Amino acid sequence: MSSNKKFATRFGVIAATVGSAVGLGNIWRFPYECGANGGGAFLLAYIMFVIVLGIPVICAEFVIGRATGMNVAGAFRKLKAAKFWHLISWLGILASFFIMGFYSVVAGWCVDYIWQSATGFGQAASQTDLHAQFDSLTGDAWRPLGWTFGFLLVNFFVISRGVEKGIERMSNLLMPMLFVIMAAFCLNSLLMPGASQGLEFLLKPDFSKLTPDVLLSAMGQAFFSLSVGMGVLITYASYFKDGTRLVKTASLTAGLDTLVAVMAGIVIFPACFSFGQEPAAGPKLVFEVLPSIFMSMPGGRIWGVLFFVLLFVASLTSTVSVTEVVIAWLEGEWKISRKKATVLYGIGVAVTAALCSLSFGVLSGWTVFGRNFFNLLDFLSSNILLPVGGMLLSVFVGWVLDRSVLRRELTPEGHRVPAYVPLIIFSLKFIAPVAIMAIFVVGIL
Ligand code: TRP
Repeated sequence: MSSNKKFATRFGVIAATVGSAVGLGNIWRFPYECGANGGGAFLLAYIMFVIVLGIPVICAEFVIGRATGMNVAGAFRKLKAAKFWHLISWLGILASFFIMGFYSVVAGWCVDYIWQSATGFGQAASQTDLHAQFDSLTGDAWRPLGWTFGFLLVNFFVISRGVEKGIERMSNLLMPMLFVIMAAFCLNSLLMPGASQGLEFLLKPDFSKLTPDVLLSAMGQAFFSLSVGMGVLITYASYFKDGTRLVKTASLTAGLDTLVAVMAGIVIFPACFSFGQEPAAGPKLVFEVLPSIFMSMPGGRIWGVLFFVLLFVASLTSTVSVTEVVIAWLEGEWKISRKKATVLYGIGVAVTAALCSLSFGVLSGWTVFGRNFFNLLDFLSSNILLPVGGMLLSVFVGWVLDRSVLRRELTPEGHRVPAYVPLIIFSLKFIAPVAIMAIFVVGIL
C-alpha cells in the first residue's frame, strides 16, 4: 500500500524539510560541538562533510522515498531489496527512539527557559548565578521531566492529527521569524567587546586540531543537523510530488541549515569571550551563554522569551519528523491506526526521555565509557547510527538500486540528465562509503 498523503505546495516541501533539519541541532548542538572540538577546524570539516557526504546522502534518501512512496521498511520491500538492506530501517527506528529520548529533554529545558527569561532569570546577577540556575534545573527530578513530558504531549498531539496542515503551516510562518531573530542576535553579538576573539575562534581553522576524534564529531554533527541517515527524509520524500526537484531541495536544505548553524556560532562565541565563558562547556553552553546576552540587552526579557519560543517551535518541527518515521512504519507495516501508533511509540519515548532527564540528577552515577545516559544516546545516535545508516544508504543507492530509477528521480521533469547527476552518483558509490568507513576506523579505534 503506498500512501497517498502528499505535501500540498512546493513551499510546503521546503518548509517541512528545512523544518526537520533546523532545530536544536543547529542552535544548541552545533555551538557546543564546535566549541569542544577546536572551533574553526571543526567548522571547516563540518562544511566539507555537508557538501561531499550530506547532500549526496540526502539525495539517496529522497530517491528511495519518492520512487516508492512508502515508509522506511515498506520502501525496501517495494524495491525488492535483499534482507540485509532492511537493516537500514531497523537502525532508523532505533535511532528515532534514541534521538527523541535526549532531544525532548533539551526541548523541555527550552520551555523552562521561556519562563525563566520572562522573569529575568530570577534576578540572577552573575555568571555564577546562571551556572547555578542551569544545574538546579537539570539536576532536579520533576521540573525538567514535567517540561519534557509537556513537550512530548504537544509533539504527539500534532503527530496524531497528521503532519500536513499543522506542521506545514506552522513552519511556514515561524521558521522565517527564527531567521530574523537570529540575525538580530548576530548583530548584537558582533558589537560586543569579545567579538573579534569569538569570530576568530569560529572562523580561523587551526589545522593541528583536526584529529580523528574531531572529524568523527564533525561528521556526526553534519548527519544529525541535516536529519539524514535514519529514514526521516525517505519518509518525507514519500510525500513529495513527482515534480519536486530533489537535488535542488537537498541543496537548499543543506544551505539553509548550515547558515543557521553558522549564525548560532556567530551569536554564541563572541558572547562567550565577552562574558568569560568556556567555549568547551558541553551541552550546557547555550543555556549559560544566551541568558548572559539577554541580560545585557535592553528589553532582554522579551528577546529571551521570543527566542526560546522560536527554538521550541524549531524543535517541534524536528521531533515531528523523527517521530513520523516510526508512526509511518507502524501504520504502513503493522496496520496500526495513527492514534494507537502514537500512543505506543509515545510510551516508549517517554520512558527513554525520563531516563535521559534523570541522568543529570539521581541517575548521574550510571555511566558507560564515562558518559551518562543522555550523552550516551546522543553519541550513539549521532556518531554511530546515523553515519552507519548513511553509509548503507549510499552503498544501496549507488550500487544496488536500478540506475535508471536513480537517474529518473534526480533529473528534473522534462530536462536532460544534468551534469551534477554523475557527480552525486560518484559520491554515493565511492566517496561517501569510503570516507565514512575511514573516519569510523580512525575515530573509534
Ligand atoms: N536535524 C534536527 C536538528 O538539527 C534533528 C533531527 C530531525 C534529526 N530529524 C532528524 C536528527 C533525523 C537525526 C535524524 O535539530
